[in-house]
Amino acid sequence: MKTKFRLPVRDAILKRNTYETPAEGRFGKVRLDFNENTTGCGPAVMKALRKLSPKQLAMYPEYAKPVSRIASYFGVATGELLLTNGGDDALRVFFDAFVEPGSHILICEPTFPMYRYYTEIAGGRIETLRYDANMEFPLQEFIAALRKKPRVIFIANPNNPTGTLLQRGVIKKILMAASETVVVIDEAYAEFSGVTVLPWIRKYPQLFVTRTFSKAAGLAGLRLGAVMAGRESLALLRRAMPPFPVNIAALAAAEAAVSEGGAVQSYVKQTRKIRDWFAGELERIGVKVFPSAGNFLLANFGRSGPALFRTLAGQGILLRDRSADIGPGFVRITIGTNAEMKKLLEAIKKKLGAKSGSKGE
Ligand SMILES: Cc1ncc(COP(=O)(O)O)c(C=O)c1O
Repeated sequence: MKTKFRLPVRDAILKRNTYETPAEGRFGKVRLDFNENTTGCGPAVMKALRKLSPKQLAMYPEYAKPVSRIASYFGVATGELLLTNGGDDALRVFFDAFVEPGSHILICEPTFPMYRYYTEIAGGRIETLRYDANMEFPLQEFIAALRKKPRVIFIANPNNPTGTLLQRGVIKKILMAASETVVVIDEAYAEFSGVTVLPWIRKYPQLFVTRTFSKAAGLAGLRLGAVMAGRESLALLRRAMPPFPVNIAALAAAEAAVSEGGAVQSYVKQTRKIRDWFAGELERIGVKVFPSAGNFLLANFGRSGPALFRTLAGQGILLRDRSADIGPGFVRITIGTNAEMKKLLEAIKKKLGAKSGSKGE
């Protein structure tokens, strides 16, 4: 007789339903759908990767030197820095350390979907507020919701996909109201906004700042992220970490990226310039664009949006259609190179120009 097996899967895993975006088949296309640096990293990074020897690859990584180098780049002590396998993993560890099944986290949507994704896996509850129609953060409601003492709050600053930037004074109000809550300020795009609360980790033990090397540094393929917090607070997260979370190639690349510095800075400067130009061009053809402090723009093409995005995808220009979660015709557009953005603009004009009255709403 055939034995029947039943895998003892957790309920939370069967119930989770956050949608995962398809990420295959993008190579060689105009990739304006994942907020990647489409220019690529600087030459120092490639040189550092080529220098890795078979002996080094055969060894478990040693962290002291790269951690010290990366900590001094961020202006923190080594005890205040935890490196992780990408920015995603920098977020996951909060669930291992702080979120019990049934306890709740607080977020404001639309935002980065991984906060919801990990809460579902942890069997936690999600309390959610909304950015308003102008994509502004509902500060008063958020502060009121803190009275229910969520375990963790996550705020992407600037926020993905809205581009909303909270000034430091606003974050201070949130910190003052969050005495029994872990406050994660996800600064994945801080290089582009120039606004950070990193120096405050010594003042507020509940503050954790996360960063990634995937965006401005252009190392998404290597997966390197970071959490920074006061020494004692960070020690709690370390207790939930595996011994070798980060690989040696990511460390070598990040060390080179922070030493080189200039490549990242010039990419950031260029991207901000292209973003502002592109936003102006979209507005000129009647498309609603929201102010963004990141390397991306949220735009609303109205009812003609979804068909336009499909046409563009057919031409190998990938955007992130947000019609399903924000509203019909909303799209997040990563700022690529000058040539990529010109190609996109031409394609949009061609398609929209073909029909009258197809402007955004
Ligand atoms: C707000 C935010 N946080 C974190 C991440 C994670 O990035 P990664 O896992 O590539 O480091 C992203 C990526 O899109 C993001 O938008």
